[in-house]
Amino acid sequence: MYQILVADSINAEGLEPLLGLKEAEIIQKKTNDPEVNLDQIDALLVRSATKVTEKLLNQMPSLKIIARAGVGVDNIDVPAATKKGIIVINAPDGNTISTAEHTFAMMASLLRNIPQAHSSVKNKEWKRNAFIGTELYGKRLGIVGMGRIGSEIAKRAKVFGMNVNVFDPFLTKERAAKLGVESSTLDELLVAADIITVHTPLTPETKGIINEEALKKTKKGVYLLNCARGGIIDEQDLATYVGNGHVGGVALDVFETEPPGEHPLLKYENVIVTPHLGASTKEAQLNVATQVAKEVRYFFEDLPVSNS
Ligand code: MLT
Repeated sequence: MYQILVADSINAEGLEPLLGLKEAEIIQKKTNDPEVNLDQIDALLVRSATKVTEKLLNQMPSLKIIARAGVGVDNIDVPAATKKGIIVINAPDGNTISTAEHTFAMMASLLRNIPQAHSSVKNKEWKRNAFIGTELYGKRLGIVGMGRIGSEIAKRAKVFGMNVNVFDPFLTKERAAKLGVESSTLDELLVAADIITVHTPLTPETKGIINEEALKKTKKGVYLLNCARGGIIDEQDLATYVGNGHVGGVALDVFETEPPGEHPLLKYENVIVTPHLGASTKEAQLNVATQVAKEVRYFFEDLPVSNS
């Protein structure tokens, strides 16, 4: 009997493909639950809450496959898993649209002060002059990382009448032309953009790609967004540049440490935040759960597995 541990909150309907697996027991519990026999688990399904460390892997000698119901595998020690012969799979495209839409919602909210105005009206105020915003139309959006999510953001930005600069070493001229965006170096983007949004994975190359050195090249009043991974924009350097008035506003859905607790950026009125909600829609959660559940089923049925 295979034991499949679903350690994070994963859409139940999406897990249905696993129900068809003969001889499988699905256990929905945290990895630190005393009722879970870690040494007997064959498959582990997670979102981002469970940190799949080498220490955890050492406690799971039967583990054969780890499935991440989402894109980023930065909560999984992939090299340690690979060394042990454990396959790591993800769901690379199930939440693209949701994350792009959330980023766009954050951008519009930031430039129109919607969270601040909302709180003000709820506090029985009516301050129409306190929330003068800025149009997206005609502004230059700098997108760092033109993968699936970055490309969906670019399409939406074009519809809003924005100009788009993209920094992505893998973006070909043909694709840039097709999407109607300008391919730039990072420096060109930093200098030109009114709004900058990052859409790369968190890797040693992208960690702190927007740091003090980058921020000092940006326009005064620039807006910055991170709905990708905490740490792509250096949070301490960003706090310095919000504090000194250079940055006009910030929207963050992700933090280096989640939840962020006492954080230097949270005290600023022009910093708006959400608790890592990019992929939190019914559609995205169903998509990613179905995608990984199918792959895990294929794995145990000895069929080819993709996205590993
Ligand atoms: C992802 O990497 O897929 C997103 O950040 C969503 C999530 O953490 O579930």
